[in-house]
Amino acid sequence: MQTVEPKPHKAKIAIGCDHAGFEMKEELKKFSKDTGYEYKDFGTNSSESTDYPIYGRAVSEAVASGECDRGIVICGTGIGISIAANKTPGIRAGACYNTDMARIAREHNDTNVLALGARITAIPLAMDIVRAWLETEFSHGERHIRRIDEITEIEQLLCER
Ligand code: RB5
Repeated sequence: MQTVEPKPHKAKIAIGCDHAGFEMKEELKKFSKDTGYEYKDFGTNSSESTDYPIYGRAVSEAVASGECDRGIVICGTGIGISIAANKTPGIRAGACYNTDMARIAREHNDTNVLALGARITAIPLAMDIVRAWLETEFSHGERHIRRIDEITEIEQLLCER
């Protein structure tokens, strides 16, 4: 009897950016289509000046609620939008500037949001970073689980206040 291999689940990605990241976000949408990742675009939708916290929040809430599996956020440096994304409980966002950082951000930190800096990283490298980040699993190493649990504890303590 012929066996049908189950299709591997591809993450649904929430994507968002400010004006500085708009061009890179559009490239990311093409990349997602080409590689078979479903995405939801949370804006912004032009290069007109706007504020990165709006999009960091929208993307991180979509991930924290389970609407999307992972998030990718883009601003000029990746710093401001990652700070904003990290304010949502349950979000571990990391700005990555090369593929090693992207792999480690998944293996060690189990990041669920990737931040990119459109004024720092050229688009081809950014797409390599995205690929590495999406394809790398959390290592489930004991020490990494412990450290992530410690972060969650901080979050829970502070949210109770
Ligand atoms: C916008 O000019 C810029 O400040 C923003 O994209 C980002 O780099 C902030 O961290």
